[in-house]
Amino acid sequence: MKSYEKLLLENKAWAQEMVERNPAYFERMAEGQSPEFLWIGCSDSRVPAEDITNSNPGEIFVHRNVANMVVNTDLNLLSVLEFAVNVLKVKHVIVCGHYSCGGVKAALTQQNIGLINKWLRNIKDNYRLHREELDAIEDYDARADRMVELNVQEQVMNLAKTSIIQAAWKREQRPLLHGWVYGLKDGILKQLATMGPDDHLDPIYRYDLSDLEPEA
Ligand code: CO
Repeated sequence: MKSYEKLLLENKAWAQEMVERNPAYFERMAEGQSPEFLWIGCSDSRVPAEDITNSNPGEIFVHRNVANMVVNTDLNLLSVLEFAVNVLKVKHVIVCGHYSCGGVKAALTQQNIGLINKWLRNIKDNYRLHREELDAIEDYDARADRMVELNVQEQVMNLAKTSIIQAAWKREQRPLLHGWVYGLKDGILKQLATMGPDDHLDPIYRYDLSDLEPEA
């Protein structure tokens, strides 16, 4: 059997098992979704949002890219964010990084790896902001793991810098932003940062939303 055929076969077994457990399972699923969480994670195959949080289909709206980045010109991320915040009305947005992230590790080197250089440039810019702290860590893996944490915190900030988040904060006092990091070696999620409507955001990045009325 070819490897991809196994996926299709396993899918049939899974669908059958779900129906056996709950005959209305797929009818319910087909009716719609109202997830409470938007997850912005790394594409790494070892960090599947639902599995590591023991969640079910329908519970988490997911966006993944290399190194869980929030890039303000990324139409894909911004479309997901706007839909999740304004249509699904998620209560929480979670940026989840992970230790030993290949994207972050590559960004700390001078490797020329083609197109992805441009994506990882965003991490290099974060590296420059925290150069003193990072360069003081001699061990490369330890330095990369600290960069993973700092990178998650920067991505939470990048969310707060969007008018999508600022408008939702003004209108509805949500969502709460979270920065988490996942340990590949122990399977544990660690909370690094939270940010909500009342937290400090550099005025440089605050938009004038005085024309927006808070929702009753
Ligand atoms: Co990664």
